[in-house]
Amino acid sequence: AAIGLDLGTSGLKALVLDEEGRKRAEARAGYPLHTPRPGWTEQDPQDWARALKEVFRALAPKLSGLEVVGLGLSGQMHGAVFLDREGRFLLPAPLWNDQRTEEEVRWMEEVFPRPELIRRTGNPAVTGFQLPKVLWLKRHRPDLFARVHRVLLPKDYLGFLLTGVQATEYSDASGVGAMDIARRVWDGELLQALGLVSDLFPELGESHRVVGGLRPEWAEVLGVKAGIPVVAGAGDNAAAALGLGISRHRKGVGSVSLGTSGVLFLPLETPTPDPEGRVHLFCHADGAYHLLGVTLSAAGSLEWLRKLFPEASLETLLREAEAAPLGALGLYFLPFLAGERSPYLEPRLRGAFLGLSLAHTRGHLVRAVLEGVALSLGVVHRVMRRLAQAEAYLATGGGSASDLWLALLAGALETPVLRVVGEEGAARGAAILALVGAGVYASLEEALRATQLEAVPGPPPVEGVGALLPDYEAWVELLLERYRRL
Ligand code: XUL
Repeated sequence: AAIGLDLGTSGLKALVLDEEGRKRAEARAGYPLHTPRPGWTEQDPQDWARALKEVFRALAPKLSGLEVVGLGLSGQMHGAVFLDREGRFLLPAPLWNDQRTEEEVRWMEEVFPRPELIRRTGNPAVTGFQLPKVLWLKRHRPDLFARVHRVLLPKDYLGFLLTGVQATEYSDASGVGAMDIARRVWDGELLQALGLVSDLFPELGESHRVVGGLRPEWAEVLGVKAGIPVVAGAGDNAAAALGLGISRHRKGVGSVSLGTSGVLFLPLETPTPDPEGRVHLFCHADGAYHLLGVTLSAAGSLEWLRKLFPEASLETLLREAEAAPLGALGLYFLPFLAGERSPYLEPRLRGAFLGLSLAHTRGHLVRAVLEGVALSLGVVHRVMRRLAQAEAYLATGGGSASDLWLALLAGALETPVLRVVGEEGAARGAAILALVGAGVYASLEEALRATQLEAVPGPPPVEGVGALLPDYEAWVELLLERYRRL
């Protein structure tokens, strides 16, 4: 068996997966998220270390009878752990959803015009990515920056704790914003023009490669042999996709996740970015690439609405939404409660209900939220399908439990949406990579075949959702114009 770790935004999860892809044990530990100023989000790497110990302690008694051959890493992308020469972190780690770098992003696009940044790195400058955070530190805390020896991504910091080795891999590294995405090296020219050096970033390599052996002190807590391989792993999106069996070896199959945010993922053979950078292009953990589109508030929007009606259960709300007609009597919900990533990259955008009338009831509001999120993912899909094959999406995330939401989504995506049987998630992908790195499987393709989860058809699509798109997009245009002027 292998252990997959997923360093999430709310907690660390460990999953023990056997060679056939069955879950054998799991453990979790949480940690806080700090928002010291509006728009800032941080975590304390020491909390991650504490969670790691807690998770290992909880897992140890569940490992009897299992031979653990290795560990794989995955986690939230884009965060920055700044280390000094001794490997001590210098400040709390700003996370993927931190928005403090708007000025740095603007400056990056002055130094490198947007099309050139996209051509080099696969993406425009994005506030959440790691590189603008490094520029922020250099500009705002030169005292601390002078002591920075290395910047690690969150899961790679876990790897450093576990092995003593500072390393990374292509999938997470392509989300830094400083990688030459076609050649898979740190872009020295880009870094130099921004006043940085490549040495700041750790060594790059494949996702299934072994970065080091598990240090004795951790092996002891976990009750396994010291020195078992720790595998580089992948960013959480790439790892979750692998966990679903999504790779270059299964063309046209992507995933759609209805979590707090909504995520569309499509595998891609070549590094072909959207010329306008409206969706992300990252390295996948399989040696190829993938597109990623993020609607920041998906199930998060429903959760927000639910809290406004504490007297009703979620089931009641969903039943009322089901009874309301398609289009919610002309009501549109734009799910930009926390700004929007894909395809607008506009952190200042905000959400709206548009088209309210005296005829509207609670059920219409809920219906409009479900439809609005589906439509927003529909817009992202239309950008992505020009670049990559999209023949089916595997649905994941809490929101996918709703038949109505999935049916609306299938309608908006005009693509079959399937449900996966069994436990998915990034930790699963990390464990699969560990099985390959530890030599249980000769190739990733073989490992994916052996661990493949079953998928069953989702509910039939709601007909006519696509017809709502032109009006939805017209409302978005109106809002965008307003907020871009603010
Ligand atoms: C991807 C992204 C998020 C984080 C959160 O670009 O920002 O999905 O990886 O886990």
